[in-house]
Amino acid sequence: MAIERTFGIIKPNAVKACQVGQIISEIEGAGLALRGMRLARLTPEICKEFYQEHVAKPFYPSLESFMVEGPVVLLCLEAEHAIQLWRDLMGATDPAKAAPGTLRARFGADHTRNATHGSDSPASAQRELGFFFGAYDLV
Ligand code: CMP
Repeated sequence: MAIERTFGIIKPNAVKACQVGQIISEIEGAGLALRGMRLARLTPEICKEFYQEHVAKPFYPSLESFMVEGPVVLLCLEAEHAIQLWRDLMGATDPAKAAPGTLRARFGADHTRNATHGSDSPASAQRELGFFFGAYDLV
């Protein structure tokens, strides 16, 4: 398979808890190469556009208020099968259901404050990378 890129976020709870270094270390250890990385502060408007498929869902208001409460780290990760590799490293969306040792099991608190985000398909990886990164932000 060809090299693939995916998009990730280290969410406000993990940034606030000073867990960025540990998460980046896990990413590099799993063979995912960093091709883009920056801190950002999301606004409600950016959040609504980014999570457009979730805006009408009952959990969206708590997702938005969490995602704007502090800085996040935006990531472009590259490997063969990067999308699946990053999703496997994160574990299930709900930390209570995430396999032991995964990032969400280790650093997530609940379904909303779940430490990390990752694209779920090649189409969403392309959209999400393009949403936050310009061509000159990626190496
Ligand atoms: P993320 O991978 O960022 O994608 C959407 C986010 O919505 C998800 O992680 C969770 O943080 C949040 N969320 C909260 N409740 C739910 C739910 N019931 N189902 C899916 N996602 C949820």
